[in-house]
Amino acid sequence: MPEPILEIRNLEMFFPVKGKVFQKEKDFVKAVNGVNLKVNKGETLGIVGESGCGKSTLARTLVGLLEPTAGDILFEGKSILGSGRKQMHQLRKDIQMVYQDPYTSLNPRMKAGEIIAAPLKAYRMTDNLERRVKELMDRVGLKAEDYAKFPHQFSGGQRQRIGIARALALNPKLIILDEPVSALDVSIQAQVINLLEDLQKELGLTYVFIAHDLSVIKHIADQVAVMYLGKIMEVSDSESFYQDARHPYTNALLSAIPFPDPEKEKKRRRLVLGGELPSPADPPSGCVFHTRCPLAQDRCKMEIPCLEPKDENTEHLVSCFYPIHHGTPVPSENN
Ligand SMILES: Nc1ncnc2c1ncn2[C@@H]1O[C@H](COP(=O)(O)OP(=O)(O)OP(=O)(O)O)[C@@H](O)[C@H]1O
Ligand SMILES: [Mg+2]
Repeated sequence: MPEPILEIRNLEMFFPVKGKVFQKEKDFVKAVNGVNLKVNKGETLGIVGESGCGKSTLARTLVGLLEPTAGDILFEGKSILGSGRKQMHQLRKDIQMVYQDPYTSLNPRMKAGEIIAAPLKAYRMTDNLERRVKELMDRVGLKAEDYAKFPHQFSGGQRQRIGIARALALNPKLIILDEPVSALDVSIQAQVINLLEDLQKELGLTYVFIAHDLSVIKHIADQVAVMYLGKIMEVSDSESFYQDARHPYTNALLSAIPFPDPEKEKKRRRLVLGGELPSPADPPSGCVFHTRCPLAQDRCKMEIPCLEPKDENTEHLVSCFYPIHHGTPVPSENN
């Protein structure tokens, strides 16, 4: 049985809306709204969703940058919330993060070597500091002479390598990668993802890999979760996910991935979602996706579906009253 290293239970992160004195239920941005997920040791959980669905907020609660409103986060079987200073100190070492934007997440006034050395200094691991930093730089494909350069002297891909080296410095067990390649060109994206895969194999790392679209994580993720308005719509192992996606939202996201084969691409049916993404401060009643769902019925407006298995694959969970069965025609742009 695979062993979960991270378990997220009914996690909520609500932000008060600015300027509201009396806070009613409505006056909160429900950025993360009841998330349940598990990540197995040595594996990658991919989390995908549109801008604003709560991915970075979830990531920030996992590394302790935000204190959740409710729910629990277990790392190696122990709750990390409300843990004492000593335990928190250790956890900060074990769980590291690579940030969304390599252009703003590196201090422009610090040299690359100093950026990578910072976590080591914070933990007083200063023996052979320069050698250790240069080893980390080598491991992520940077040159020793890059040590003294400033962030603006690097390309986007190289900057993200600095961010990865910084995350590796304390020998973490789990790395939260918040859209680590979204700001990079496609060819550079592949290089960075290959590097991450190599590091995972070499060091036995576990990843939570956040992305905007499903094509980015297709090859790296063992498990895939789809997030919409602070909730998980579908989660399963990658194979079942890409072959038998059950949620209408997942199907819409999958239909947006172009095929490399031009013949197949010509026949691709795109499932285009109507309407705008609703505000997380005022999410729709019932199933939060019902306002944009091509298959929604009256029940979806009133009842909240649970994230649960829909067939014999008990690890493939779907939050939908009317999940798609393989081969069911779905209303699409070309119909
Ligand atoms: N500190 C905060 N205070 C108030 N609202 C916030 C805060 N941080 C995030 N939000 C809100 O929470 C929601 C989710 O934001 P988040 O940054 O987590 O989304 P995301 O999925 O990472 O989006 P993107 O793909 O654009 O990075 C948004 O509506 C955002 O405005
Ligand atoms: Mg984000």
